[in-house]
This record gives sequence, structure tokens and C-alpha cells, in this order.
Amino acid sequence: MAFPRNSLAGFTLVLALLPLCFSHYLYPQFYHHSCPRVEEIVKSVVAKAVAKEARMAASLIRLHFHDCFVKGCDGSVLLDSSGSIISEKGSNPNRNSARGFDVIDDIKTALEKECPETVSCADILTLAARDSSILAGGPEWEVPLGRRDSRGASLSGSNNNIPAPNNTLPTIITKFKLAGLNLVDLVALSGSHTIGFSRCTSFRQRLYNQSGNGAPDLTLDQSYAAQLRPNCPRSGGDQNLFPLDFVTPAKFDNLYFKNLIAYKGLLSSDQVLFTKSEQTMQLVKLYAHNLELFFQQFAKSMVKMGNISPLTGKRGEIRKNCRRVNTNN
Ligand code: HEM
Repeated sequence: MAFPRNSLAGFTLVLALLPLCFSHYLYPQFYHHSCPRVEEIVKSVVAKAVAKEARMAASLIRLHFHDCFVKGCDGSVLLDSSGSIISEKGSNPNRNSARGFDVIDDIKTALEKECPETVSCADILTLAARDSSILAGGPEWEVPLGRRDSRGASLSGSNNNIPAPNNTLPTIITKFKLAGLNLVDLVALSGSHTIGFSRCTSFRQRLYNQSGNGAPDLTLDQSYAAQLRPNCPRSGGDQNLFPLDFVTPAKFDNLYFKNLIAYKGLLSSDQVLFTKSEQTMQLVKLYAHNLELFFQQFAKSMVKMGNISPLTGKRGEIRKNCRRVNTNN
């Protein structure tokens, strides 16, 4: 195509092509005209929820992760079962564990009042995760926007793509790689285990029978293990809760990495970052000694995770209710 010599025609052409250039990319100003107060509204609802329960910040960050690792960041994790849709909420990583759905509903309700059928549930999750980081004392970053919502869910994707706490380090690395994330992203993003809780069932194996020989995990500090056992017995107490960072459980800081160096990581998937690879061990040490660097990388990796295969342009839809697909299309 020849570029018009006439400067007005050239300018008009550029203007005409602009939406095309942007339509398949995410960018922070996506709702600038269609819903200028979107960020303010998301922030205020998240702030209220976190003021009521500090843990909600952790739960919302995790929800975004569990969304993005299954078919990309498309709000699929939010869908309830109905018709042909089998909800991801029943998957192994999510069952009795994923939370924060009511907060996303509250944000959606507020946004449907302000600018109906405009802001996707996938973007709400992404913004809520960023706001949660800030509210817990973690880093802030600009959020690229413009994701659209899926018309389906994937239970098998949720079961298979999201790493499990007893996965080996190579398996975890592979699952991140499949999502387009590297070792640096893995270590930095695992740093969000500096807030929030785990159930006993997610780490019990380490306390009693790590490798099937009836012995505890020797990479778990034995006095810390002794403190964990009373509330996480050999059987029963599956849902009992333990802070992922026992030193500063509600503060987004780098104590998580310091704990790993002291062999006091709660999940096996946490501790292996320090014990099973020289490269990840160096990153753990780096972030333990340099909060600033951890925050910078966490912000970068969250944006990268948020960019996993979004639906843009005419793909997907803007759900009116985050729990179900729209019926009229
Ligand atoms: C590296 C692989 C990962 C594994 C194996 C893993 C596993 C887990 C497990 C087992 C729990 C506790 C769930 C329960 O017992 O109910 C948990 C909690 C959590 N995870 Fe991860 N996770 C990983 C990576 C991530 C990433 C990438 C993020 C976010 C960017 C994240 C954020 C969180 C948060 C914030 C919590 C606490 C949630 C709450 O208190 O409600 N995790 N994770």
C-alpha cells in the first residue's frame, strides 16, 4: 500500500488504522473514554474487602493466577457450572481453596451501574490483583487492559496447568514455561506466598511421609515442622489454615525468601526453589537481600502473567455477570 503524499490524507490514514493497531493489544488507557472511573471503582471495592479481611488481598492475587494459567486471562475461573460449562471452581487447585468470587461480583455490580457491558471480568481480576498487592504493602504497577471474557471454562486445564504444591521443580518449571513464563517469573511470582494461607492438606506430606518412606521432609526445619504438626495431624484437620509466611503473614515483603533460606518454606513447591536448582537458589537469595529488586521484578512478572493469551478485538464477550456467559449471542 502506497503511503499518501498529502499530509492530511496520511494523517487520516494513521487515525483510521490506530484502532486496528490497538485492537489486539492490551493498554492501560483502554477504558479511558468508555469507563473513566473503572480503576477508582475497582480500588474502592477491593479496599473495603481487604479492610474487612486482610487475607482477601492474597485470595484475589491467587484468583488472577488461576485464571491466567487456564486458557489465558479470560475470566474462565469465575464461571459457575451451567449447561455445557463445567466450572473450574471444582478443580483440585480450586476446590475448598479458591476464594474472592463475591468481591469480584461486587466490583462487577458497581461497574455495571457506572458503565454497563463495558468492563470485562478478566480485566476486573487483573486490576483487583494489582490493588491487592498495593494494599498489602507490595509494589504497584500500571495494568494493561482490554481483555475480554471467555464463553467457556476448562476443568482439565485447571487440574493440569496449575502447578501443585507437591510437584517437582522441573514439573513446576515446565508448567510456567507452557504459560510463557521463565525461571525469573517463577521465583518472583512465588514471592506472593509472602501473604495468605495454606490448608494443612497442601503440605501434610512434608510433616510425615515426604518420599513414601515414613520420614518427614528433611529440607523443612525440624523445629518449625514440630510447631506445624499439632494443627496438621496425620489424619484430620485437612482444612486447618497456616500462614504461608509465618513471620509477617499479612505484609507483602520479602520475608518469604528469607524463610526459604532458613528452610522454613511451608509448601514443598516453595522450598524446592532454594534446594533443587542453583539458578533459582541465587534468585531466592537475591530477592531475600534486595526488597527493591523483588518488587520491581514482581511487578514486571505480574504484567507478563496478565498478558497470557488474552481474548481481544471481537473474540470472547463482556460478561454482564462474571459467573455466567451472556445468553443473547
Ligand atoms: C509456583 C507454583 C505454585 C504452587 C505449587 C502454588 C500452590 C499454592 C497452594 C497449595 C496454596 C494454598 C492453597 C490451599 O491450601 O488452600 C497457595 C496459596 C496462594 N498462592 Fe500459590 N502456588 C504457586 C504459585 C503462585 C503464584 C504464581 C501466585 C500469584 C502470582 C500465587 C499466589 C498465592 C497466594 C496469594 C496464596 C494465598 C491465598 C489465600 O490465602 O487465599 N501462587 N498456592
